[in-house]
Amino acid sequence: MTYSRITGTGGYLPEKILTNHDLEKIVETSDAWIRERTGIGQRHVVGPEETTCDLAEKAARGALEMSGRSAEEIDLIIVATTTPDQVFPSTACLLQQRLGIHNGCPAFDVQAVCTGFVYALGVADQFIRAGSARRALVVGAESISRILDWTDRGTCVLFGDGAGAVVLEASDTPGILATHLHADGRYESLLNVPAGVGKGYPAVMAGEAYLQMKGNEVFKWAVNTLGQIVQQTLEQAGVDQTQLDWLIPHQANIRIIQGIARKVKLPMERVVVTVEQHGNTSAASVPLALDTAVRDGRIRPGQLLLLEAFGGGFTWGSALVRF
Ligand code: COA
Repeated sequence: MTYSRITGTGGYLPEKILTNHDLEKIVETSDAWIRERTGIGQRHVVGPEETTCDLAEKAARGALEMSGRSAEEIDLIIVATTTPDQVFPSTACLLQQRLGIHNGCPAFDVQAVCTGFVYALGVADQFIRAGSARRALVVGAESISRILDWTDRGTCVLFGDGAGAVVLEASDTPGILATHLHADGRYESLLNVPAGVGKGYPAVMAGEAYLQMKGNEVFKWAVNTLGQIVQQTLEQAGVDQTQLDWLIPHQANIRIIQGIARKVKLPMERVVVTVEQHGNTSAASVPLALDTAVRDGRIRPGQLLLLEAFGGGFTWGSALVRF
């Protein structure tokens, strides 16, 4: 039986930092309000010339280095992003070009907004289990700051840019134990960017496409849905929360994360939290949190991890992982 296993992680945050105090100069808000309602203290944002693929490349190189693999050994590239550099080619193809991978391996993007990385990990796991790939590069990367309305204090304070990546390899011993992926398209109106190439939409151009959200409705949905999926994932795997070493949640809001931890009776000491420094980096948030805790030594080989995320669509998903 072939399984897939994470053999390297990487992460990258753009150099430019926007603190809550910086935002006080842009919209009517305060450091105290943002910290109390969201737990966010700062976020990183791309520079004028920086793109999602730039961030993805740096995170991918970090994951390759940790795994001890060279780029040419990769035989599948999946990039989860909501903010691709261009309509096409996909960011995954652009990344393949940047990394100098000329072996003809498949490369494609996955679009599931903040759940994108969990979706991409689930897809890569299926490729490896089916024998269609042996070494996948799975990336979550976003320049979400480019699709924010910087006059809307209800959304612009929440998000940040970044990228996270893993190398996922075929293995005789299980690494990815289970993935659960879900969507419900009825909730489009609660969280969306109504721009694109469709009739009647403004073009996809930075400065014209804005993220819109009914924050408190999304909040309730996220806490309930994620609480349920964490519970279901553990039950279906026959694992109880005391066996879990780390919960690695989507980093949208500290109150959502605390709400889920309470629901599943997991102490916050076993939850990886990066929202204070990163804000919500959409598809990059889970792999960035994973990489942060791997590199600071909290996550160690053999530990049991539960990754979960929720995002526009709505989409939501989880991955139970033996690291
Ligand atoms: N600074 C100061 N005041 C703000 C503000 C800001 N940045 N943003 C909103 N407010 C104001 C609102 O205008 C409102 O004022 P009013 O009562 O005078 O109308 C008040 O704060 C309360 O707004 P509300 O939206 O009810 O606040 P909230 O407690 O729900 O917090 C969010 C707002 C956005 C922080 C919260 O709803 C949230 O985190 N939602 C989930 C968002 C998310 O994570 N989405 C991504 C999922 S992938």
